[in-house]
Amino acid sequence: MRSKVTVVGAGNVGATAAQRIFDKGYADVVLVDIVEGLPQGKALDMLESGPVTGTDAKVTGTNSYDETADSDVVVITSGIARRPGMSRDDLLLTNMKIVSSVVEEVANRSPNAHLLIVTNPLDAMAQRAFQVSGFPKNRVFGMAGILDTARFRTFLAEELDVSVNSVEAYVLGGHGDSMVPVTGSTTVGGTPIGKLLSQDRVDAIVKRTQDGGAEIVNLLKTGSAYYAPSAAIAQMVEAILFDKKEILPCTALLEGEYGLNGLYVGVPVKLGANGIEEIIEVDLTDDETAALKSSADAVQELIDVMANAAD
Ligand code: NAI
Ligand code: 2OP
Repeated sequence: MRSKVTVVGAGNVGATAAQRIFDKGYADVVLVDIVEGLPQGKALDMLESGPVTGTDAKVTGTNSYDETADSDVVVITSGIARRPGMSRDDLLLTNMKIVSSVVEEVANRSPNAHLLIVTNPLDAMAQRAFQVSGFPKNRVFGMAGILDTARFRTFLAEELDVSVNSVEAYVLGGHGDSMVPVTGSTTVGGTPIGKLLSQDRVDAIVKRTQDGGAEIVNLLKTGSAYYAPSAAIAQMVEAILFDKKEILPCTALLEGEYGLNGLYVGVPVKLGANGIEEIIEVDLTDDETAALKSSADAVQELIDVMANAAD
């Protein structure tokens, strides 16, 4: 029997993620949105690509949650996206309400599912989903680090004219302006980047990575990135469904790791059939540890705003 993946939000990220997962054929996909006809139309269009791509999986579009019952993974992308001039944090209170209501709907119907949160501001939304669902922490996590790391690797590979596959790197911390590209352990073919690039070039690439979301928003003008984000979602879904135990930067609840407690932040994790099976503590320089703490503080500020709004 095929696995079942629900994607909530049939906008740019959700629909593209649904398509990537459907195309591979290993899971039936349910696409949910509040806009009538949107998930149905996109799902039918995707389904009709099956004979061409050779996929026998099913993809269904719906405005209700009954079809999502017993999903193995629920990907939550519903909410508003950034427009030029907006930060991810500007989305906080609107998306908090949307994510809370969606989590209530899916948690009842798929009590054993993994919740993969994508809606921004990501770390705060993952924290919210954890609270509302009552699920164990290993089954509630967020996607951002793979995307941020992919941007960092792309820019480094372009700069050095090497394959992206030869660049090993992590971007940790919250999915915001204070994210932390871990330059101290970034290598290209095993060589530390400090030996390949000047500090000025490293700093410029770190900055471009931190501004990577805004760079796309400013080009698109009507929304934010979705090709790279949806690829990152599909990688996480595959790691879970195929029990890959892949080490990937994901947003996870920290309970003492990296000196942080009770907060969702991006860190390397082992992702497999049991969701977050382990949090991996990589060596950080003192500067990187301080930057991670400062990024976590920015996440905590959003959590505090949410707590006050809920009062
Ligand atoms: P979009 O505007 O294209 O799609 C959002 C969809 O959510 C819309 O179709 C809308 O009708 C739907 N929606 C709104 N309220 C809903 C509800 N209560 N129930 C069901 N569906 C609902 O936006 P896009 O580009 O797909 O982005 C989605 C979210 O993902 C945004 O918050 C964006 O900032 C975030 N994002 C996060 C990334 C990450 O790395 N974590 C990367 C890219 C986007
Ligand atoms: C991004 O980084 C908007 O969070 C989204 O592209």
